[in-house]
Amino acid sequence: MTEIYPIGGGKGGVGKSFIAASLGTLIAQQGHNVVVIDLDLGASNLHTLLAMKNPKHGLNRYLDKTVKKLESEAVPTIIPNLFFISSLHCSMEVANLLHAHKLKIISAIQKLPFDYILLDLGTGTNFNTLDFFLTSKEGILVGTPEPTSIENFFRFINAVYLRILKQTLKRAEFHSAVKDAVTEMSGPTAGTHDILKIVSKYHPDKVAHLKNKLREFEFKLILNQFRKNMDSNLGNKIETVCNRHFHSNFQFVGTIRYDGQIHDAVISKTLYVQKYPHTQSSDDLKKIAEKITKSRKPTVLPKEIS
Ligand SMILES: Nc1ncnc2c1ncn2[C@@H]1O[C@H](COP(=O)(O)OP(=O)(O)O)[C@@H](O)[C@H]1O
Ligand SMILES: [Mg+2]
Repeated sequence: MTEIYPIGGGKGGVGKSFIAASLGTLIAQQGHNVVVIDLDLGASNLHTLLAMKNPKHGLNRYLDKTVKKLESEAVPTIIPNLFFISSLHCSMEVANLLHAHKLKIISAIQKLPFDYILLDLGTGTNFNTLDFFLTSKEGILVGTPEPTSIENFFRFINAVYLRILKQTLKRAEFHSAVKDAVTEMSGPTAGTHDILKIVSKYHPDKVAHLKNKLREFEFKLILNQFRKNMDSNLGNKIETVCNRHFHSNFQFVGTIRYDGQIHDAVISKTLYVQKYPHTQSSDDLKKIAEKITKSRKPTVLPKEIS
């Protein structure tokens, strides 16, 4: 079984790419086959965080049909079992990706033969980034403890919800008044609640179906760049707010401490968790990787039972 984890969260610089590279490494080191895919088209830099020289090709060769299968573009990294697909040579920004190309990428990702697929997404909430995030029913949301980052965190979830609802409400069975009202709703002020209210007016029988659709999604929350004097309960508080306010399941999976050596590792183009495996931040990342792969660990009977 393949598990796909898009890594998103709105704000730039919070550590999405760093976490993609680190979790990819740690999950591969557990013995799983992993591929990390750079989907930050126009701002690709995941290769640097993986300590790789500029990749010569990647997603571009799949889109221009030089190769038939996306897996042909998955190249080995310095970590055994960890592969990488670059988008460095894609000529477009993610916002300008052709609709057909986006669908082609999403469908190819869903067929890749790996245990874990991690998608490094770009900043912001443009439709293509949201659709990449919706490649899977499971996603990882990254933020920092700063209020601005947390605001973007909620904005991102809201944008994901609007995207799911709008896609569903496009279907013929919905009243044109619902479609028109939803099309007019955009920007940060529009909310799931407003949409569900309109739907309940015209299709009271469909509200439960829409809520169930949102319930299918599971999100893991990570707080990065955590410093000593910060509220150690913040992650749990955000989890509670998300579970109360949104319809999906939100699970806070851990904080990653701020470490100046991460910056140094990026500057020297080295892979942090490989170069500094015993720091507190690497420990934080290991715990998160273990939580993510927990269900796939072989069941070992405790000594006292066996
Ligand atoms: N836990 C951390 N401690 C210190 N610096 C970090 C940490 N996580 C990320 N960084 C720094 O933040 C920079 C931006 O991270 P990056 O993963 O590129 O963000 P994003 O992909 O979300 O835009 C990294 O280059 C690194 O220097
Ligand atoms: Mg990035």
